[in-house]
Amino acid sequence: MSAQTDRRAALPARLLLTVAPMQDVTNLAFMRVLTRIHCLPDFWVTPYFRSTSTTCAMAEEPLRCIMENPTELPVWAQLAGSSISALLRDAETLLRLPVAGINLNVGCPSPLVNRHGAGAALLRNLPLLREMTQALRAHLPPESWSVKCRIGWESALEFPRVLDALCDSHPDMLMVHARTRKQLYSGRADNAAVRLAVQRAACPVLANGDIFCMDDAQSCLSTVQPAGLMIGRGVVRNPFLLRQLRGGPASTLQELQLYDAILLEETGRFLKRYSPVGHCNRMKKYLSFCYADFPAEIEYKLRRCTNPMEMARLLQSARVRA
Ligand SMILES: Cc1cc2nc3c(=O)[nH]c(=O)nc-3n(C[C@H](O)[C@H](O)[C@H](O)COP(=O)(O)O)c2cc1C
Repeated sequence: MSAQTDRRAALPARLLLTVAPMQDVTNLAFMRVLTRIHCLPDFWVTPYFRSTSTTCAMAEEPLRCIMENPTELPVWAQLAGSSISALLRDAETLLRLPVAGINLNVGCPSPLVNRHGAGAALLRNLPLLREMTQALRAHLPPESWSVKCRIGWESALEFPRVLDALCDSHPDMLMVHARTRKQLYSGRADNAAVRLAVQRAACPVLANGDIFCMDDAQSCLSTVQPAGLMIGRGVVRNPFLLRQLRGGPASTLQELQLYDAILLEETGRFLKRYSPVGHCNRMKKYLSFCYADFPAEIEYKLRRCTNPMEMARLLQSARVRA
């Protein structure tokens, strides 16, 4: 039996897969791309809607993921906020739309969001986190309450108490990005913390962080044994990873080139006010996760490119291996 067959055989039959929400990246354009290349998750989670007492949460980009969802797959609407009344108000508004449920963001490290006590800042305000999650649970229908969290503000030692607070609100699903706020996106994802969540939570737990290939996924699955995986940057870099995790073949070079071309097309189609420079700038938000696979001179030119036709030409020679 080949190593590849071995790996596939070891994957759980009913592994839940989803794309990690990423502002300006996992938007409607990206949903359309995954649909066109037939690499779909089990469900979607929108990038966060900011919920404050003065702001209406209906930001256009995450709203389009819900209203123009190109698939039949469920979409969870993610909220980031620190005002319980605003969160309840916005959850209620979102639940009138075709959403599967509400996902609370307890991990965003943005200084702006954290200054307002939202996102990862909730990790160091457990009384508020507890009150907020209980209020949302009480307000939301069954099967429609989930949380995406980091494992602490400073240190993973904080996670058991964070987890207690979250579990007390009986979430229907938990997604754990295995990093602290202090780590931002660097350092190693701490799989032991996610394992703790799998052991303690009564709901399905999805592991998130640093899954870029089948070996990463396999090592996470064997140590954490989660109900599923939530993958962000790895799917932008190679969306065929979702297909592989379903037991399908790895991507070919031609498929990755087709992905790049479709991404460029859908990114342009997505823009409401089109300009060639705006189109290229949008595209660079995805490409920043792909440069690691590109030759340095192509990366250099892509970073400076302001013409979509030139970008298309550069992308044709950007992939040198599958
Ligand atoms: C550009 C960018 C935007 C992000 N936006 C969100 C967001 O809106 N909501 C959220 O919960 N996490 C957000 N994240 C975090 C990702 O969902 C994910 O937790 C993180 O990238 C780690 O997973 P990965 O290693 O699979 O990418 C964002 C990350 C990046 C890089």
